[in-house]
Amino acid sequence: MNQKRDPIGVFDSGVGGISTLQEMIRELPEERFIYFGDTANAPYGTKSTEEVIACVRGVVDHLLHQHIKALVIACNTATGAAAATLRQQLSIPVIGMEPALKPASKIRKNGSVLVLATPLTLHQEKFENLMKQYGQGAVKVPCPGLMELVESDDQAGIRRYLEELFNRYPPEKVDAVVLGCTHYVFLKDMIREMLPERIAITDGNAGTARQLKRVLEREGLLNDEGPGSVELETSGTERDIALMRKMLINS
Ligand code: DGL
Repeated sequence: MNQKRDPIGVFDSGVGGISTLQEMIRELPEERFIYFGDTANAPYGTKSTEEVIACVRGVVDHLLHQHIKALVIACNTATGAAAATLRQQLSIPVIGMEPALKPASKIRKNGSVLVLATPLTLHQEKFENLMKQYGQGAVKVPCPGLMELVESDDQAGIRRYLEELFNRYPPEKVDAVVLGCTHYVFLKDMIREMLPERIAITDGNAGTARQLKRVLEREGLLNDEGPGSVELETSGTERDIALMRKMLINS
């Protein structure tokens, strides 16, 4: 049995990880991807670490039944909560993600770096360790409720939320904004319009896709023959699948 042809399992609490999936498809067009949005249990970012671990366990078991050759946690919150444990427990590679603070810290001059993420991501030890290394000038900006607006595709609500948020930080004192939740990557164009051009916006999606490729190469698991494909699954409803499809096609 050729393991190279097995699919890659990707998951998030909802539609956010679709933004990561897009980068992975660009980087690895010959791979088969199964994407799972755990919408019935969303949001993860306002739950406790233990609650998120329990949700993740269910998703991972489901994906393992489909003989995935690698697992991508396309969610900053779930990575912080569960990646270390999953790496110990699973025999397949586990790729996680973290807020792209490192690239933002390199761009920073004397201003601040706003790290937009879920409350749980910003409370985790993993993020504290990242702050110790790259956190000079970084400001934690928890965004409870923002992923729900993305999930309901409420463009006017998203705009109001972001305007109110950026009003709290004078733009002349900001050098970079980190999109530390995969849901927020869909808001990049709107945020770009709201902020002066010189403020950099970073996210971890391209880095995660490159890391996946490196790991597959290293493990001899890269499928370079295709055909590539994407399957969308959810613990939610048909409406959630429709939104995932729309987000995947639109960008
Ligand atoms: N998309 C997830 C992340 O990257 C979190 C959204 C949520 O469930 O709160 O952190």
